[in-house]
Amino acid sequence: MFFLTLSIFTSIFLSANSVQARKFRDTGDNEKLGGTNAELVANLLDVHNQRLQSMDSNNIDFMVLSCAQPCIQGFSDPVTAENMAVLVNNELAGTISNNTERFGAFASLAMHNATAAALELQRSVKELGFVGALVNDYQQSGADGQTLLYYDQPEYDIFWQMVSDLDVPVYFHPRTDIQTILNLTYAHAPSLKGPAQEFAVGLSTHILGRFPKLKIIVGHLGERIPSDLVRIDTQLKRQATLGLIMKQNVTTYFRTNIFETTSGNFAPELLNFHINQIGLNRIMYSIDYPYINIPDGTAFINGLARTMKKEDHNSLARDLAIEVLRLND
Ligand SMILES: *[C@@H]1O[C@H](CO)[C@@H](O)[C@H](O)[C@H]1NC(C)=O
Ligand SMILES: *[C@@H]1O[C@H](CO)[C@@H](O)[C@H](O)[C@H]1NC(C)=O
Ligand SMILES: *[C@@H]1O[C@H](CO)[C@@H](O)[C@H](O)[C@H]1NC(C)=O
Ligand SMILES: *[C@@H]1O[C@H](CO)[C@@H](O)[C@H](O)[C@H]1NC(C)=O
Repeated sequence: MFFLTLSIFTSIFLSANSVQARKFRDTGDNEKLGGTNAELVANLLDVHNQRLQSMDSNNIDFMVLSCAQPCIQGFSDPVTAENMAVLVNNELAGTISNNTERFGAFASLAMHNATAAALELQRSVKELGFVGALVNDYQQSGADGQTLLYYDQPEYDIFWQMVSDLDVPVYFHPRTDIQTILNLTYAHAPSLKGPAQEFAVGLSTHILGRFPKLKIIVGHLGERIPSDLVRIDTQLKRQATLGLIMKQNVTTYFRTNIFETTSGNFAPELLNFHINQIGLNRIMYSIDYPYINIPDGTAFINGLARTMKKEDHNSLARDLAIEVLRLND
């Protein structure tokens, strides 16, 4: 069986010129994430052994690897960010180059300079064979790292034009907010940060009106947005005078340009609700390893096979991903 899962590649950078696994969540609860911290680090880096075995034993044919948040979006200095992106992309390409039947990759991009981002995406797709890009929400910039860049501004048109021309998806992944925001919003209740609440929305759809062919992927069942479409669209209409430049409403974009993945949001009833809201033809199965254990994904997708029609299940587990990522091209 061919299951597609989106996975997270080895992050983060402990030195200026080598890509290393980060010391992953050394909080003592790594048991839940599949073994000890040392096992996890080894598994992140050594995709050809443990990872592949785990894919085989969980019926996963293909994994897309990418750099865990915040990755390049955390580098405020443009030159460092651009060099790091090239380093990560080259390293990842080298890692998977002898097994592209089982592994694909999303490019990491420095988003300081839209032209440079466009060119690195083009190189990653054309020369390295990557299937798209993944950005971890806003790009930090400025001397103090406190200026946040969003990609709906006109200066990014050149980037989105390249995305359109290459016909590859861009995955919007959330990131942990900068400390300033965390202090202002979550100082009273740190347990709410991250996926519990903070990640709920990190997506701007403004660009879509200008680039009708764009394919945007949003994880974790659309970061909850499809659960709230009517309210969002009603409110956006009211606030249009504040400068809304979208041509369509968010509901429409979720049916024309945006795809979502399950990534760890393994809630069958919520999935059914989303299928009703945006259509099964917008939803792809993914796991979100290493934040989520691979067998948990298997239990979810296998469980759905009991209630979904075979062709619907195939669409969710593989067919749509093959189409969006153009794996058969
Ligand atoms: C690819 O290269 C890695 C590292 O040398 C190796 O462990 C792995 O077995 C190779 N995979 C294939 C399919 O040749
Ligand atoms: C942005 O990147 C392009 C392509 O590398 C380069 O020609 C241009 O000078 C850069 N712009 C700035 C402001 O650094
Ligand atoms: C966040 O709050 C902590 C604790 O009060 C403080 O030490 C730190 O400087 C603050 N950081 C920012 C960026 O505001
Ligand atoms: C969104 O736009 C579509 C197409 O114009 C329209 O049919 C629908 O009623 C709108 N939804 C909301 C909630 O405004």
